[in-house]
Amino acid sequence: MAERARVAVLLSGRGSNMQALVAASRAAGARYEIVLVASDKPEAPGLAWAAGQGIATFAASPRGRPKAEFEDEIDAALRAAGVEVIALAGYMRLLSAAFVAAWAGRILNIHPSLLPKYKGLDTHARAIAAGDDVAGASVHLVTEALDDGPVIGQVRVPVMEGDTADTLAARVLVAEHQLYPLALSDFLSRN
Ligand code: GAR
Repeated sequence: MAERARVAVLLSGRGSNMQALVAASRAAGARYEIVLVASDKPEAPGLAWAAGQGIATFAASPRGRPKAEFEDEIDAALRAAGVEVIALAGYMRLLSAAFVAAWAGRILNIHPSLLPKYKGLDTHARAIAAGDDVAGASVHLVTEALDDGPVIGQVRVPVMEGDTADTLAARVLVAEHQLYPLALSDFLSRN
């Protein structure tokens, strides 16, 4: 691993977790730099933000072609950028077993629940419906199964009286922005 690990962020949307990772990467003594922000959605707002920051970006649309072809393009862009570790940040597409195997142990994901609870979508609504009084977010290593793989960091967030999925999501998101840079740095210092 380079002295400052070369990290790519994969996203599908807004990219607020990516922004938190970029901000932390610019602090003195940071263990990583974000060398590429890539997306399956050319129109993702996170891509435009990254480009505006002078960060290299890449987009490939999976529409109308085999998944392997699409993922090969992403893989080639990652390798051309000398990427060592991939951080999924709101990347809303399941990676194939082949892609995960090619990057085994080097893909992290952030998920808005206290895994193993609430894999998949609508995590906040499900936590509220279950009457949970604590929610949160997890950073985990990616395996081929959805939102599975060893958890390497978690943050707990209270569910408040009257919370909706949106108000809870907003509270958890603030905690995600603190968790992800710390969990990534921690992972890099151990690998
Ligand atoms: C975040 O809450 C992230 O945890 C979630 O999507 C949001 C992306 O927001 N990820 C997943 O649900 C993955 N299963 P962002 O684009 O502002 O970082």
